[in-house]
Order: sequence, then C-alpha cells, then structure tokens
Amino acid sequence: MPDAANGTTISAVDADEILDSRGWPTVSVRVRLVDGSIGSASVPAGASTGRHEAAERRDGNPSRFGGRGVQDAVAAITGEIDGAVRGMDAAEQGTIDRALTVVDGTANKGRLGANAILAVSLAVARAAASSRRVPLYKQIRGGGAHRLPVPLMNVINGGRHADNGLPFQEFMIVPHGATNFAEALRWGAEVYHALADTLRKRGHRTAVGDEGGFAPDLASVHEACDLIVEAITAAGFTPGPQVAIALDPAASSFHDADGYHLTNAGRDRHDSTDLIRFYADWLDRYPIVSIEDGLAEDDFDGAAEMTSALGSRVQLVGDDMFVTDPARIREGVAAGRANAVLIKPNQIGTLTDTLEAIRVAQQAGWATIISHRSGETEDSFIADLAVATGAGQIKAGAPCRGERLAKYNRLLAIERELGQAAVFQSPFTQRSPS
Ligand code: PGA
Ligand code: ZN
Repeated sequence: MPDAANGTTISAVDADEILDSRGWPTVSVRVRLVDGSIGSASVPAGASTGRHEAAERRDGNPSRFGGRGVQDAVAAITGEIDGAVRGMDAAEQGTIDRALTVVDGTANKGRLGANAILAVSLAVARAAASSRRVPLYKQIRGGGAHRLPVPLMNVINGGRHADNGLPFQEFMIVPHGATNFAEALRWGAEVYHALADTLRKRGHRTAVGDEGGFAPDLASVHEACDLIVEAITAAGFTPGPQVAIALDPAASSFHDADGYHLTNAGRDRHDSTDLIRFYADWLDRYPIVSIEDGLAEDDFDGAAEMTSALGSRVQLVGDDMFVTDPARIREGVAAGRANAVLIKPNQIGTLTDTLEAIRVAQQAGWATIISHRSGETEDSFIADLAVATGAGQIKAGAPCRGERLAKYNRLLAIERELGQAAVFQSPFTQRSPS
C-alpha cells in the first residue's frame, strides 16, 4: 500500500482531447497528488515522422476529425493508466515510466498510445515539481541545471511543412554568437523581421508555415540561403560568427527506391554520394553549422560516408534515423552515422527514455538538440528539458506563433530566474564559409 503520509502520491489522472497548432486533436493530461498539487502536460505531433517512432494512438473513426481523434487514448489514460499509477509516488519518475511501459506491453507503445503515455509521464514530472515547489528544470535533473540552449529558429519552411516547391523542410537561423539567451532571441527575431522585408521586396509572399517560418515560393536551396544571408546582413549581423544557418532537409521526404529527388517534378535522381557533394558545396558557400537528416532515415551507409566526409566541418544531426531511441543512438555512435542527435520526447514516449537517449549521446561526445514537433501545443516542457539536461541547443521554430513562442518565452523566464548562474555558450566554432 502507498504511504498515506507521502504528499507526492498520485491520487488521480485525468485527460482531455484538445487541439494542436494545426487544428488536429491531441492529448492533455492532469495528474493530481495527495497533497493537492496538480501537474498538467499536453503532447505534440509530427508531420514528417520517422518510420521507427513510438506509435501515437488515433481513433480511426472517420466521422470525427477524419479519423484523427484521440478519444481512445484519453480513455486509456482515465481507465487503465489511472488504475496503474494511482497510489504511486510522482517523485519516482523512473518507476512510473517503467510501469507505463510494462502496462502497455508493446515495443512501440502503440497499445495504450505513445501520446497517452508521454502526456502522463510529463504531467507526473510537473506534479512532482509543483509539490516540491521547484521549477520543472530542477525537478528533471536536480540543482546543477544552468545552461541555456542556443535556439535553431526555422525561418523558411519547405518540404512537408509548406505547399511551396522547396525540397528541404527547414532553413534555420542560429544566433549562436550572442552573449545570452535573451540576446540570441532578439537577434533571431530581428533577422526574422529583416527576412520578411527582404522577401516582400522581391515580391515573395510572407505567409508562414507550420513552424512559423515563411513559406515563399522559392526555386532552390541556393535562393533560400542567399535570402537568409541577405537578411542576417540587413539586420546588422555578421553571417557565420554571429548568426549562422542550419538545415533540416528531412531527406526521407524526397527519397524513394530510385534515390533522392531535389526538384518539384522529381525527375532528377541522385545517390547519397551526389548529395554529400552538394552539401560540401553549400558548406563552402554558406555559413552552415548544422545539417539534420541530410540523407534518408535508413541510408546507414550514406550516413557513415557523410559523417566521415563532412563530420569535422559541420554538425550532422540524426532525427528520423535515431528517433530518440537510446539503442539506435548507441548503434549510430558505434557506426559513425552522425555526430549529433535530435531529441523529441514523443518519438520515444516517456521522460525517462528521453533522458536516457540524451545521456547516451552526451556520453559519446555527441551534441544534443531538444526539439518541438511541427504540430505543437502551448506546453513549454521542452524548454525546461533543454536547461535540465544542458543540451546546448533547442529547435522550437520561428519567433512567430504562440505555440513556438511558449518555449522561447519560457527560456527567457528561466534565464532571468537563474540570474548570474545562467550560462549561454555556442557549441559551434565561429565559422564563416571558406
Ligand atoms: P515533424 O518535423 O515534427 O513534422 O516530424 C520536424 C523535424 O523533422 O525536425
Ligand atoms: Zn528533422
């Protein structure tokens, strides 16, 4: 029996179906403790999901939200999950996450749903933080957390996040030369506004995509990078040392059995060696510090080739390839498939597994980037997670759209709260294109 005197004992778990930033249903959870503390959390959803991600549960009932409802996931939380964790101690995150995984019983968390499990896992951490009256980042990893992440801000959207002709999904700006997070955010916002002016002047539209970046009809990767460099300069910054560029081609989305296709019509065809050559050329021309998913998620040989060719010049990030899975990251480290990993809690399904993925990567000397999803909520959990783990980098979209700003504004608050103890440090060498 649970110790009745322990205030952090879970007394009830409650859930709702809410909407995410794309207007599709997602899960929201409240965990209530014996001492009256409440922790809530909601979970995001991707559009360019990796094939090996933990499985979110959707109703499949075509008469509601085209089958994307999450009423079954909500019912799993208020039924089976509530039954399993009620009476457990919210301060024991690892024990609760293990129990959730065991009750689910599948390898991909698909029976109860990774969306259901993650929402509960995150809400448990918040409830424990609330009970202990400590900020969430201290609850996640104790007192040593003080490093603010460098933001990777998606300012031009293509691929599956926009309806334009750009093959690459994300063109990001990285204000890594700033002296603190607040300054980095200001630089990022100033470049974002300068980019809007630059686009307008050229007659491009400034409507935004899912992550708040602009989605102009640009012809090529070159054009997008040229416009960003122009905007960085127009905003008064030095491209490279002050504000650099990061790419997420999300190459699985333009890859099929024939190879990689970079044009709209898809008539061109390239193999991984061609693509690596293109990237090398772009590294020569533009101040690019990071390339994520430069090749397709299962192109293991290509990834190793790319890491040995470019890994000393640029951060190479695996997202779809590793899906925040500690075992996949371990394999990737052994085979040299990247030198950095994207961390998305909903790819793996619990806070404990997410922390383990970060630990494995950091122990191998890999960089870690905590990331949002393209379908988000106003939940800012990943901001605290980034500080708690000293991840060094966060990807939370453009400085636009409330669900993106929720993360950046939370980081402003954390930096203010940490005061003199806050550290902001660029993980990149101050490179300009050679
Ligand atoms: P997603 O994309 O959230 O739509 O899966 C984000 C990414 O690829 O980094
Ligand atoms: Zn990605």
